Amino acid sequence: MRTLIKGGTVVTATEIMQADVLIEDEKVVAIYAPGDGGGWARAAGDAIAGALSEKVIDATGKYVFPGGVDVHTHMELPFGGTYASDTFESGTRAAAWGGTTTLIDFAVQTIGEPMMDGYEEWMAKADGECAIDYGFHMIVSDVNEQTLKEMDMLMGEGVTSFKLFMAYPGVLYSNDGQIFRAMQKAAENGATIMMHAENGIVIDVLREQALARGETDPIYHSVTRPPVTEAEATHRAIAYAELAECPLYVVHMSAKEALDEIIAARDRGSNVFAETCPQYLFLGWKNLNEPGFEGAKYVCSTPVRSEEQGHQEALWRGLATNDLQIVSTDHCPFCMNDHPTLGMQKQLGVGDFTKIPNGLPGVEERFTMMYHGAIDEGRLSLNRFVEIIATTPAKMFGLFPQKGTIAIGSDADIVVFDPGTHQTLSADGIHMDVDYTCYEGTEVSGKVETVLSRGRVIIENGEYLGTKGDGRYLERGTNQCLI
Ligand code: URP
Ligand code: ZN
Ligand code: ZN
Repeated sequence: MRTLIKGGTVVTATEIMQADVLIEDEKVVAIYAPGDGGGWARAAGDAIAGALSEKVIDATGKYVFPGGVDVHTHMELPFGGTYASDTFESGTRAAAWGGTTTLIDFAVQTIGEPMMDGYEEWMAKADGECAIDYGFHMIVSDVNEQTLKEMDMLMGEGVTSFKLFMAYPGVLYSNDGQIFRAMQKAAENGATIMMHAENGIVIDVLREQALARGETDPIYHSVTRPPVTEAEATHRAIAYAELAECPLYVVHMSAKEALDEIIAARDRGSNVFAETCPQYLFLGWKNLNEPGFEGAKYVCSTPVRSEEQGHQEALWRGLATNDLQIVSTDHCPFCMNDHPTLGMQKQLGVGDFTKIPNGLPGVEERFTMMYHGAIDEGRLSLNRFVEIIATTPAKMFGLFPQKGTIAIGSDADIVVFDPGTHQTLSADGIHMDVDYTCYEGTEVSGKVETVLSRGRVIIENGEYLGTKGDGRYLERGTNQCLI
């Protein structure tokens, strides 16, 4: 099967070029000057002559981007007595609608159980369900001698990154010794440690005290997780990673003080990286303070922060200067009102913000919202946009150049994006299995029009044309961003 995408502007992390893209089966096989198919084909011989393509996609006036790579999602995650409402089927389909063609989710170890059991459980959940290609990081809930051995085993399965939690005591939390031991193992076997950097012990004290004062509304979720709790944990994680000499990737960064710790470490030449997410770039206390219980929609950890304190500006600056390298979503949706099987999930926290399930939807809007921030709002270049949503995520987690770019030999994961269209984001138009979007009413330019996953057109003319199970498990290599 050959497909030609013609007349578009191909944008990668390093190029912006008028070019036609020829795809054969699952791979990009040629990129050449527009309309020069004949000339190129002559040069290449008759094997691919005559635009022999069975399908031609006219991308005139459109951008041709690499498919998005979202390295932080939680489909079906058990959390706070319920489950994230998107399954691997619904969540990966929604990702495709939004221009994301690869995602890396998190398999979870249950405390007291072998880590391999958690890996196998999550592999089974995803198997035969996904619309796009996917991989797994492993959440380490219980660092012990057995777990450390299993880290080696998982490296052999293409799971090359392990998330630890300095938050959520009694649930996912690891103490400093456990963290350091896992980091030493990562240094030994080439893994990357991903860190949820919040001081959960101090946060628990602040939460209890807030509740005792009768402070129960969603806003107190953020008030009781002040920036210093994120910055202190980030500092500590960096100190231990530097001592253990392992690569560290700090997830869902929201506080400018935490970013300062990353900047200092990177200036020292350490292999320290960080991501932020659209919610921290676009949302804040205005949202958490929405009337009634609406603020619960925006409860996630780390929290969205006060607009008055300069966090958003610092994060955008970090993205521009490469102090922050990636924008992922931390997609972890819970319904506000009703879900047929999961019920009124966020309402578990009416009258007690500590019981609101942590997490929000975003896998479908990341591409569009980041294009909006980068291009509509003039904060980043087109190349940098591609770099933070596709290329660096693929490199950081060992998938480049198979994923994250448009190049000869790369998987044909491609988004044809119409910059001339305008749309207003709304819950009515989403495909995620959740009853709201965090960006309701936001007017953006541009629309994901056509999406190809390994050469198959899966979104076209407002229709999903894929099949569940088409998405393949990706065995990943190690971090390709190391100094
Ligand atoms: O609020 C969040 N982030 N929920 C998902 C779990 C995590 O910590 O990433
Ligand atoms: Zn986390
Ligand atoms: Zn997460």
